[in-house]
Amino acid sequence: MISIDEREKFYKLIESRTSIRKFKPEMPPKDTLQRILSAGMHAPSGKNRQNWRFFVVTGKKRDEYLKYSQKSWLGIKGVLQTRLKPSLYQFTERFFFTLGDAPVIIFCYSENSPEEKDLTSIGSVYMAAQNINLACQAEGLGCCTMGAPLEIKDEINEFLGITQKLELLCAIVLGYPDHEPPKPPRQTEGRVTWLE
Ligand SMILES: Cc1cc2nc3c(=O)[nH]c(=O)nc-3n(C[C@H](O)[C@H](O)[C@H](O)COP(=O)(O)O)c2cc1C
Repeated sequence: MISIDEREKFYKLIESRTSIRKFKPEMPPKDTLQRILSAGMHAPSGKNRQNWRFFVVTGKKRDEYLKYSQKSWLGIKGVLQTRLKPSLYQFTERFFFTLGDAPVIIFCYSENSPEEKDLTSIGSVYMAAQNINLACQAEGLGCCTMGAPLEIKDEINEFLGITQKLELLCAIVLGYPDHEPPKPPRQTEGRVTWLE
């Protein structure tokens, strides 16, 4: 039975999460990272296939990844240039060049299978990704989920040495937050339809 206090804390945790794009360089302890990954693997999954596969990149390998992050920027900068105001565009470009100094990157992959629809397998991995987002928040860490690496999937597979048939779905960069960005307001209009 969950107490009112616990319930309030739960919703506060969800509502206080926001994407972090500037980090302190300190590395979170390994047991913290293991708890976060374990939270990811507590997510539900289609046919309980637990088809998520995580690749955790730190240290020199993380530094080597920056050139790939910069390359992925080329694929999306055009769209963002028209959508973002100049200061935000510059901040985002810098984020892609430095990953905001995030010391850890978790690449989230799906092992798809003929036993299950690809969309269901993919959805299961994004559920795990959201658990990871919330676990970061609970640990006093910040993170940003990134779809941009999908622009250069094949190169990233090679970089990570992936030989199995896996599908890259997102990267989650994480570390201790070094800014407090405002949370983009949520729109509720037209998002929910109630039927009786
Ligand atoms: C699947 C997915 C892909 C995303 N890709 C990127 C990305 O490539 N770069 C980035 O800066 N943010 C990325 N984001 C973060 C979103 O921009 C962010 O969640 C959104 O603006 C809402 O802000 P909030 O997370 O602070 O609530 C992504 C989020 C999701 C869920």
